[in-house]
Amino acid sequence: MSGVTGAIEGGAAGYVDIGQALPGAVRVEMNLHVQEKKQIMSTDETLPMVDLRANYRALKSSIDAAVADVLEKTNFIMGEKVKAFEAEAAEHLGCAHAIGCANGTDALQLALMALELQPGDEVLTTPFTFIATAEAIMAVGAVPVFVDIDPVTYNMDVSLAARKIGPRTKALLPVHLFGQPTDMLAIRELATAHDLRIVEDCAQSFGALYDGKATGTLGDIGCFSFFPSKNLGAFGDGGMVTTDDDELAVRLRMFRAHGSERRYHHKVVGCNSRLDEIQAAILRVKLPHIEGFNEARRAVAAAYDERLRDLPLQRPPLAHSLGGVPIRPVFHQYTLVLEDREALREALDERRIASAVYYPIPLHRQEAFAGMPGVDERHPVTERVAERCLSLPIFPELSTEQIERVTDVVRSVVAVPA
Ligand SMILES: Cc1ncc(COP(=O)(O)O)c(C=O)c1O
Repeated sequence: MSGVTGAIEGGAAGYVDIGQALPGAVRVEMNLHVQEKKQIMSTDETLPMVDLRANYRALKSSIDAAVADVLEKTNFIMGEKVKAFEAEAAEHLGCAHAIGCANGTDALQLALMALELQPGDEVLTTPFTFIATAEAIMAVGAVPVFVDIDPVTYNMDVSLAARKIGPRTKALLPVHLFGQPTDMLAIRELATAHDLRIVEDCAQSFGALYDGKATGTLGDIGCFSFFPSKNLGAFGDGGMVTTDDDELAVRLRMFRAHGSERRYHHKVVGCNSRLDEIQAAILRVKLPHIEGFNEARRAVAAAYDERLRDLPLQRPPLAHSLGGVPIRPVFHQYTLVLEDREALREALDERRIASAVYYPIPLHRQEAFAGMPGVDERHPVTERVAERCLSLPIFPELSTEQIERVTDVVRSVVAVPA
C-alpha cells in the first residue's frame, strides 16, 4: 500500500490537496476542478454529506475512457476488468483472494454460505450497524445475537461477547463501523478459544489498518461494499469478499455464480451475485487513489477535531491505539455524540449543511426483528449512542472553508463549558 499524504491547504480557499496523491494527468483534471469549485462555491450553497460529483470530476477522463472501453468490448459479464480488479484489490489489501460480487449485502451472505452456516446457528454481531449485517445472517437461516458496543469506537464491545457464546454459536461478525477498526486481537482470541469463524463487515472500512494490516484480511472472510458513497465507491452497486483460504475462495467463487465452477455444472445451490464489468472498470480507476482519498478524509477529521476539541461532545478517535495495537481509521463517517442532537441538526439545516443520523434505531429495536430471540434485551451503550449521534459531512474534497462553515455552526449551538 502506498502511503500518500494529503494535507489541508492553509490558504483562503484551503482545499484538501489530494492532488499530490494523483498521477500527472489526473492531477491536472483535479486542479481544473478545484479552480472551478473556487469560483462557484459560496457560503449559501448546500453542503452535502458527500460530494460524488467532485470525486467523479477529479478522475473524469480516466473513468469515461474505462467505461467506453467496456462498451466497445461488450464483454459485460465477468470480463477482463473484473478479473484485473480482483487481482489489484487483493494485492492492495494484502490478501490471497479478492472476489467481486453484486453488493456488500451479498458479500456477507456469500461469506456465511461459504462457511456453511446452518439454520439455527448463531452469529454474534453488533446492533449498531446498517441492517444488511443482520439481514445477511438471517438470509442463511442463522440467528444474529447482538452484543453491545464500545463507547469510544461504537464497534462490538468484545469484552461482552464471551457471555453470549453458546453451543449454537458458529461465527463472529464484527463491523468496522464508520471506518474505525474493531478490536480484532480480542475477536481472534475469542474465535480461537471457542472455535468460531470470523467474518468482517468492511463495508465502511476500505483501507483502514489494524496493526498495519487492512481490515478484511484479519478474519476468515472480509466483506466489502462499493455502494457509491463508500470510501471506494462504484457508480452503482458492487461488492467483494476477501480471504487467504484457497478452499474458501473456491467456494465463494462458486456460490456467486449459481454454484458452478464450470458453466451448467452446478455443484451447490448458489446465487447470481457478480461484480458488473462497468463497475469494475470504474473501481480500477479509483483504486490507485484510495490511499490519497482516505488520507484526505483523515485530514478533514483532524481539522474537525481541532476545531471542536473544547466542546462538551464526543468526537471520534483519530489515529490511535486499541489495546496497544496501532489503528488507522478511514473516516467513512465523522460522527459526534452530543446531548442535544436535534438543536444541532436544525441549526445545520438552517445553514444548508447536511447532517445524518447513522443509525437512529438499533437493530434489536427494528420492527423487522420483532419477536426474534434476544431482541428484548437492553444494549445501553448502543441505545445511548443511537439517541445522540450525528454525522457531519466528510469527503476527500471538503475544503477548509467548508469545514469552518460546519464547525462554526456546531460552536454556535454547543456551548463551551465555563
Ligand atoms: C455496515 C454495512 N454493512 C453492509 C452494507 C451493505 O452494503 P450494500 O449496500 O453494498 O449491499 C452496508 C452498506 O450500506 C453497510 O454500511
